Amino acid sequence: MRISSRARAIAPSLTLEVSQRAAQLKSQGVDVISFGAGEPDFDTPEHIKEAARQALARGAGKYTHVAGTVELRAACAAELSRVHGLEISVENVIVSAGAKHSLFNLMQSILDEGDEVVVPSPCWVSYPELVQMAGGKPVILPTRADEGYRVDEQALARVVSQRTRAIVLCSPGNPTGAIYDARTLEGIARVVADRGGPDTLIVTDDIYRSLVYVGEWVSIARVAPSLAERIILVDGVSKTYAMTGWRIGYCAGPRDLIAAMATLQGQSTTNPAAVSQAAALAALTGPREPSEAMRVEFDRRRKAMVSRLRAIPGIALYEPAGAFYAFPDLRAYVQGAIADDLALARAVLERGRVAIVPGSGFLAPGFARLSYATSMANVEEGLSRLARVLAELA
Ligand SMILES: Cc1ncc(COP(=O)(O)O)c(C=O)c1O
Repeated sequence: MRISSRARAIAPSLTLEVSQRAAQLKSQGVDVISFGAGEPDFDTPEHIKEAARQALARGAGKYTHVAGTVELRAACAAELSRVHGLEISVENVIVSAGAKHSLFNLMQSILDEGDEVVVPSPCWVSYPELVQMAGGKPVILPTRADEGYRVDEQALARVVSQRTRAIVLCSPGNPTGAIYDARTLEGIARVVADRGGPDTLIVTDDIYRSLVYVGEWVSIARVAPSLAERIILVDGVSKTYAMTGWRIGYCAGPRDLIAAMATLQGQSTTNPAAVSQAAALAALTGPREPSEAMRVEFDRRRKAMVSRLRAIPGIALYEPAGAFYAFPDLRAYVQGAIADDLALARAVLERGRVAIVPGSGFLAPGFARLSYATSMANVEEGLSRLARVLAELA
């Protein structure tokens, strides 16, 4: 079969090999502890599921407005206005099948061939792929663990130019768990205003903004209100409300951009699933306690994971302040027969029955991502196993 060059250009996930092998071992009855999860291990809160049942009973099996129901877009607009101190209306919002789909529609709507998009790394691997799928050119800006993965203003100034169509920010970050402080955000805004063109956008992926354990989450729209028209907000219900499978994300920006994204969505996927929209409405307008309970439990596991990782000789770890990942530097163990982080992840899985995600998948070779969206018992047992395997490899 001839596969299009466009489809062939999409890189398969580097991280897939380890997770597929872990699944294979599990299906054979092997007791594997997985730190691979990119989603909460909790079930969707009951009041959200109940809203979905009621919507089905009312006949929510029909098409909705392509950009999402007016009720849901109004709830997204209210939430984003509250969080960012902006006046966002229904026409500024489009709901899609997850934040990833929002980002896909966004990149397709803003990028022409060769337009540059700055992506600070380590990064969620989908960003460069989404940019490339839209014909754009990802410009990777490395950041350092010992600098808290902050975007350095001078380094950013060297890569931002009139050719820059956007910079993508993610705070708290996947995979680092780092949160951008106000000073960092001010620096970013300054560079975009001074060195970017009039069309250079700041895309802020705030999917983990409710999962913060240390310090405070800061909105770049509050820090740089003069750039409000050029700030595109990407958000969703997946992580905050344990709703990854429902596939609802949303994006807010200027009306003409949102209208272009709606046209694209109208000719591709049409509206996101109607019943999921009803559930997302309940999530955004309902009680916050279930999400807060999950956050508190993630924090307990985060602390346990951080202290156990730091107790392993040779591991350097930046303390994650948000999301549900730890991203240790394991370069001390990449030596001899262990040629790279993929080989290390393979060895940890085969010898220790622990699945970790190689850092190369996030453009950070020699690191690994460990998700603490798993039980405390798994965190404890999994870290004991990891410590044992690494001691053998040392
Ligand atoms: C940084 C980041 N952004 C966006 C997403 C996409 O979330 P969803 O498409 O489920 O809304 C993820 C999911 O892993 C993520 O880690």
